[in-house]
Amino acid sequence: MAIMTLEIFKPVTLAGMTLRNRLIRSATHESLADGSGAPGAAHEKLYTALAKGGAGAIITGYAGVQQDGKSSLANMLMINDDMLIPAYRKLTDAVHSHGTPIVLQIAHCGRQTRKAVTGMPTVAPSPLKDFIFNEERPHELSESEIEIIIGSFVAAAVRARKAGFDGVQLHLAHGYLLSEFLSSYTNRRRDRWGGSITNKFRIVSEIFRRIREEESDYPLLVKINGFDNRRGGMRSPEAVEIARQLEASGCSAIEVSSGTVEEGLSVMRGPVFPSEALLASNFKFKSLPAPVKKALAPLLRLAMPSPKPWRGYNLDAAKAIRQAVSIPVIAVGGIHTLKNITGVLDSGTADYISMSRPFVIEPNIVRKLQEGRQTASRCIECNYCAIMIEEYPLRCWYGKLHPARNMQPS
Ligand SMILES: Cc1cc2nc3c(=O)[nH]c(=O)nc-3n(C[C@H](O)[C@H](O)[C@H](O)COP(=O)(O)O)c2cc1C
Repeated sequence: MAIMTLEIFKPVTLAGMTLRNRLIRSATHESLADGSGAPGAAHEKLYTALAKGGAGAIITGYAGVQQDGKSSLANMLMINDDMLIPAYRKLTDAVHSHGTPIVLQIAHCGRQTRKAVTGMPTVAPSPLKDFIFNEERPHELSESEIEIIIGSFVAAAVRARKAGFDGVQLHLAHGYLLSEFLSSYTNRRRDRWGGSITNKFRIVSEIFRRIREEESDYPLLVKINGFDNRRGGMRSPEAVEIARQLEASGCSAIEVSSGTVEEGLSVMRGPVFPSEALLASNFKFKSLPAPVKKALAPLLRLAMPSPKPWRGYNLDAAKAIRQAVSIPVIAVGGIHTLKNITGVLDSGTADYISMSRPFVIEPNIVRKLQEGRQTASRCIECNYCAIMIEEYPLRCWYGKLHPARNMQPS
């Protein structure tokens, strides 16, 4: 059933959580955690601003469930130890004091990380080198290592509840470990963890089954790829089947995204590839001499053409999934104007909208839209925010590199 425009800013219940509207802050890595992976004062400041600024619910940046799954981006949140619970409790209390639900996104980065950062070999369903994270061939996970990972996701969800989160979101998208299991491009296994959809989905269904044994009524959301653009990879019909299996497993809501890190900027799209940001912050490029960077910038732009369209690119996949399941569907990806938001809801494409970059530039974007002060985000989709978090705390760069560092774009 379609949701009429006027309903956007009315309170609504999602998986037992009460949201003041249908606009959600999608998971956004902030590069703000301390050395142990704990959130601190900077998280509290940002999340309080999001809550005060009207976000219907907040999904945190991804939090690692075990050390070998830690992100290569700077300062990832971790949820791999009970010692972290008090710091998270402080954060959830702060957000709840503004009446906003907060969901912890839990993840294992699989082959999309670096041994240099985790201190451990990278792991994946199959030993295939990544185009970007290719310093080593990932280790193919054994049965017992898969069991350990399942246990880590379950323990993370239990910790999240103890820390006051209203739910968790399993990261099944963007080429990270669970997404690698779901896509035949990265999962070439011939055992019970690969091959058929049921086999590829087994790791996720086991995580669900075991969390449900511990926390039968806890909201368990997921973010999945409606498709990736890899040869032999995930396509919409398979994502629809996975969505059905998620519903049968007790999933509370599905956020539909797409893409992998390897594809360049397909997860968060924009008109121009941000070469200068990549050259300034990426581990492969940042120490190159300035003249080399200058020469490389236009070449990178040619080599990494931005996928099109760069607005509303996951909507067909979201619609197909919404038609197949009866749990709520959240659409994400270049939905940055009130017109697009109402279009998605009114057409019955999704039940909720989530956004990331609009909240980076304006943490109070929802309030501005609701009060009629703006009809669109001011984000220019330069994607510098997405690239620069490899080195720097999250911020809006608005297409420019920090002048103090003399890294102006050409
Ligand atoms: C700086 C930045 C960090 C992100 N971190 C995460 C993350 O931790 N987990 C995740 O699932 N998606 C992450 N994303 C992807 C967003 O959640 C979202 O799917 C994508 O940006 C498209 O939505 P948008 O057009 O509203 O930005 C990140 C995006 C950006 C720009």
